[in-house]
Amino acid sequence: MNIDWDELQRLARQAAGAAYAPYSNFHVGAALLAEDGRIFSGCNVENASFGLTVCAERTAIFTAVTARARRFSALVVVTSNDAPVTPCGACRQVLHEFQPSFEVRCYGLSGAELITTTAELLPRAFVSADFQAG
Ligand code: THU
Repeated sequence: MNIDWDELQRLARQAAGAAYAPYSNFHVGAALLAEDGRIFSGCNVENASFGLTVCAERTAIFTAVTARARRFSALVVVTSNDAPVTPCGACRQVLHEFQPSFEVRCYGLSGAELITTTAELLPRAFVSADFQAG
């Protein structure tokens, strides 16, 4: 599949603009490319009860799954600080659930690019086979 990374970055940036982050003031946008070509975006949504905050990556994944997309080819994450930031541990586990490895590109404002994969981000992930074994 030919991946339009510029378009993914544009959509992730647009999503970051929608972030609801009055507590951290850290705006995150994610754009997730499904295998069928559809793109799902998400932003972080914070809450006065801090633990209820949902990251941009999970917002994008849950939006995709709601639209019946479960296989993914690419993810772009854009954050509002200078250096690129990779998805948090919780999001890594959720990304891994649907597809063990696909490319992830992360950008801050500096223009620096961080390229990785979901497999590299979460080696030895917890998977369903781990609890079906017993
Ligand atoms: N955040 C994300 O949206 N994605 C990440 O990968 C890291 C953290 C959000 C959650 C919270 O709204 C803010 O960034 C600060 O942690």
